[in-house]
Amino acid sequence: MTRQLHDDDDASAALATPGASPSLEPAGAAPGPEFAGAFGTAPEFAGASGTAPGSRDAQAPNPWPATWVPARGEEPGRIGGRAVTGLARDYGTPVFVVDLAELTGRMDAWVQGAAAAFAPEHGLAGADVYYASKAFTCTAIIRLARAHGMRVDVASGGELAVALAAGMPGEHIGLHGNNKSEAELRAALEAGVGRIVADSLSEIELLESLAAERGDESVPVFLRVTTGVHAGANEYVSTAHEDQKFGLSAASGAAMEAARAVVAAPHLRLAGLHMHIGSQIFGPEGHEVSARALLRLRSEIAVETGVLVDEVDLGGGFGVTYVDEAPMAIREMIAALAAAVREECTERGAAPPRISFEPGRSVVGPAMVTLYSVGTTKEVTVDGGVRWYVAFDGGMTDNVLRPMLYGSEYVAAPASRDPGGSPRRSRLVGKHCESGDIMIRDLELPSGLSRGDILAIPATGAYGRSMAGNYNMLTRPAVVAVAEGREPEVWLRRETIDDLLILDPGAR
Ligand SMILES: Cc1ncc(COP(=O)(O)O)c(C=O)c1O
Repeated sequence: MTRQLHDDDDASAALATPGASPSLEPAGAAPGPEFAGAFGTAPEFAGASGTAPGSRDAQAPNPWPATWVPARGEEPGRIGGRAVTGLARDYGTPVFVVDLAELTGRMDAWVQGAAAAFAPEHGLAGADVYYASKAFTCTAIIRLARAHGMRVDVASGGELAVALAAGMPGEHIGLHGNNKSEAELRAALEAGVGRIVADSLSEIELLESLAAERGDESVPVFLRVTTGVHAGANEYVSTAHEDQKFGLSAASGAAMEAARAVVAAPHLRLAGLHMHIGSQIFGPEGHEVSARALLRLRSEIAVETGVLVDEVDLGGGFGVTYVDEAPMAIREMIAALAAAVREECTERGAAPPRISFEPGRSVVGPAMVTLYSVGTTKEVTVDGGVRWYVAFDGGMTDNVLRPMLYGSEYVAAPASRDPGGSPRRSRLVGKHCESGDIMIRDLELPSGLSRGDILAIPATGAYGRSMAGNYNMLTRPAVVAVAEGREPEVWLRRETIDDLLILDPGAR
């Protein structure tokens, strides 16, 4: 079975050696490393390790956020100083719990790391960090991102509206999308967004006509370029094959043609080049190769059009620990990319551009834990033994979508107490009417686990709540932020059945 690379796909299982074509097998089928520490009581999952969020990945892979304390005996697990039992009682389950210490630590690692590595004293022109709000958005996280020096990247009119509602200045917003609607482009022009990342020639035409109609001048346009590099986990593939819906191909000349079109458009300004090469990328190599290709194209565009763009956006895709993966620490990754940008610009004799990054998962992924309540359990006989099915009160409408779409792996730990008993070969499933609604295919859970116990699943901050839906008319979970010494803050309230019925004009 092969899978497509998605824009926010986990290509971790995807990529063979450079030059080879990707062959993607769902990773969930094999008994995986979820077995390790499945009870969450092993010291390596203790979480509160004392190291700074975003800096510890490479040293001790650990999916639990900074303030997580696992359950011990009858003592419930804690996050942000709060017992998970209290959070479950007050906000219900499933609930996404944000560890503010982890989240802000990651924001700071990005912003401070980028400012330090790309500082003018290193011969570079500075860097901005755009939080990729598709990973998770609401006004609270956008405000926090802004307070920590981040800008925001949006991929739709809806994400743009949230960013604006949070008070993010238009000039600190970048708009993406392979098929932006006229209404979305108009909204972006109205908001005065700092960059519109054009994805196609037809979009450039449309944007020019809208800008002309409004009387806008010099609308800042970036070009999303496909450099031929696709990356994930520890590998990348560099080929000329660019059979994907995103971007303008450097190899085919489409990117150059788009550059000419923007330069010739009276109401647009060619402001930058952009790339985004994949997701769950653990090392700098793929970004380096692609960044060099983009900088090469920048110089070629300058020769062809006379415009040397001031900015280059290296996109997102930086990996996190879900189980025991060991991505390079944020600051090290940034420093490696700064060195590559400096070297390439020096070789070309080009003034360095201002760089931007668009991390989503790397900011918010490890900062949330989802709490679920255990419901039905049952035993089935499988080849050579017995498997215990443990069902929780969510599923493919919250976090199970990623395992279903991408074969993504997670760990889980009993969190309201240590239920005791011997480890049982288990499968953790959701409550939807789909047999594929499987969160973790193979894990060990303690035999004492029973109905009403709370299970915690870490690293669920990115593409969990943001991809949540209402299949089977389930209501989407709340998102609650916690920090030591502060009252929990509801970032998104739990959806209610009334919220669902209100959309149905026939409901009485
Ligand atoms: C253009 C762009 N930028 C940034 C991101 C964020 O990626 P990640 O969350 O993997 O950092 C994405 C994700 O799909 C993207 O498409």
